[in-house]
Amino acid sequence: MKKNYIQIARKGALLIGAAVVVASCSQKDPQSPGFEYMPDMYRSVGYDAYQANPNFANGTTAQNMVDGTMPYQADRSKIYNVLPYPFPNTNEGYEAAGLTLKNPLPYSEANLKQGEVLFQTFCQHCHGAKGMGDGVVGTKNPGLIPPAYNSPQLVSLPEGKIFHSITWGKGMMGAHQYQISKLDRWKLVHYVQSLQKTPAAGGATADSTAKPAADTTAAKKVAMK
Ligand code: HEC
Repeated sequence: MKKNYIQIARKGALLIGAAVVVASCSQKDPQSPGFEYMPDMYRSVGYDAYQANPNFANGTTAQNMVDGTMPYQADRSKIYNVLPYPFPNTNEGYEAAGLTLKNPLPYSEANLKQGEVLFQTFCQHCHGAKGMGDGVVGTKNPGLIPPAYNSPQLVSLPEGKIFHSITWGKGMMGAHQYQISKLDRWKLVHYVQSLQKTPAAGGATADSTAKPAADTTAAKKVAMK
């Protein structure tokens, strides 16, 4: 009796094994994955980036990054570049940046040279080659004439405020934090400081372009027309 059971069990196991072999190998197509006993695992639904998606509360596939997300930086020496900027775009943030921020880069020939190249690319058209506020943009749009860096208004502007203004923009000047990395902005700070030191020989021009803040707002209205 016992022997019979064992024989039946053996035959049964053989049959099931044969069935599995036949089921998985009987496909004619060599590319076929064979019998899929959990098709969802093989064939998940592929959503396109901009396709509607019922799985997320806001119904879209592409999701915004979580607040505070930082880009991955494999090179540890450049980690500073991806740390979030702690000072908000407010008067308090501006003042705090002026008091606390210090340039992490040395005031070296190489950094100044790179600062100059960045300046020529991003700033010169408004500020002028020597930071005198005589860039070509101002000739077309007087509302965009910035004060000279060596004018009484800006000559002693601290490096933290220079960095803050490049980061967030100021008045009619736009923010540059999205185009220029932090370390490159610090190279620009060095270069702006080198221009602050320009002797105010062309002082007359420099002073005449220095505008109080109220003027900038008036100019903004003109520029927006
Ligand atoms: C669209 C023209 C424009 C561009 C481009 C521009 N600026 Fe300005 N910038 C201005 C104007 C206008 C002001 C005066 C803002 C004010 O005080 O209202 C200014 C002000 C400044 C100041 C003084 C900020 C302060 O705190 O008073 C600095 C420093 C400066 N710019 C640096 C730069 C640098 C560096 C770049 C390039 C990355 C740049 N700017 C690009 C127009 C521009």
